[in-house]
Amino acid sequence: MSAVVIDGFAVAASVRARVAESVTALKSRSITPCLAVVLVGEDPASVSYVSGKEKALAEVGMTDRSIRLPATASESELLALVATLNGDPSVHGILVQLPLPKHINEARVIMAIDPAKDVDGFHPVNVGNMVIDRPCFLPCTPHGVLVLLREAGIVTSGAHAVIVGRSNIVGKPLSILLARRDCNCTVTLCHTGTRDLPSISRQADILIAALGKPRVITADMIRPGAAVIDVGVNRVEDATAKKGFRLVGDVDFVPACEVASFITPVPRGVGPMTIAMLMENTLLAAKRASGLE
Ligand code: GUN
Repeated sequence: MSAVVIDGFAVAASVRARVAESVTALKSRSITPCLAVVLVGEDPASVSYVSGKEKALAEVGMTDRSIRLPATASESELLALVATLNGDPSVHGILVQLPLPKHINEARVIMAIDPAKDVDGFHPVNVGNMVIDRPCFLPCTPHGVLVLLREAGIVTSGAHAVIVGRSNIVGKPLSILLARRDCNCTVTLCHTGTRDLPSISRQADILIAALGKPRVITADMIRPGAAVIDVGVNRVEDATAKKGFRLVGDVDFVPACEVASFITPVPRGVGPMTIAMLMENTLLAAKRASGLE
């Protein structure tokens, strides 16, 4: 068997095109959605993510309010900046790129963001509303995974979804979303405390790898015919690559293709979807702020 490789890049481009049309319509009412992207320090992966977000903002016609702070910025400086952005009516969404430097308490910063501008969906108000099916901002990566499953025509109702990784950003929210009535999956959430992971991952109709370790999900851990979604983005050294590294997922891709029915590649799989869903959330934030949604 050779798996269908899901083109996340193409699906993301079509989401962005739809967002761009709505942005044009909003602009005719003198509303231009604006996202403030805050980056503290110069972590190379974060710099690269943030530049991807900036590029997408330009493409869909939104205003990009990028703010860079040095790695030495204090927590109170960052909190003051968040308070300013909360109070600025021209800013519809606020994204503070994670991880933050060790001396800054991430939870405190996330909780300082106005939930109505929390386009990451990380604030406890949005997380809580997600859990009880109330209006909220859905976290971008899990939401992107749901859209990819839908666009690929993968049946979720009644399927056993096994998620590997319990992060606040991906694994935990995805377990909630896949179990909701609209997806209707039976969900198993695996993590570092899971005994005999391969015996559980092999029960998955839909296997989601979100543990952040290069190529640890091997072909023998995948049930023949399963759909495999690889959320991992890992830099591995590669002397032949221009930058000295290349990106690989959490799944050992080539052998996995021989076992799975569907699979997402890295890069050009889930990654572009995260940014596309961020554009969608920023659009939604601008509409809600203007009383349009
Ligand atoms: N770091 C890795 N992924 C994300 C994300 O989706 N949002 C933010 N703010 N930081 C991240």
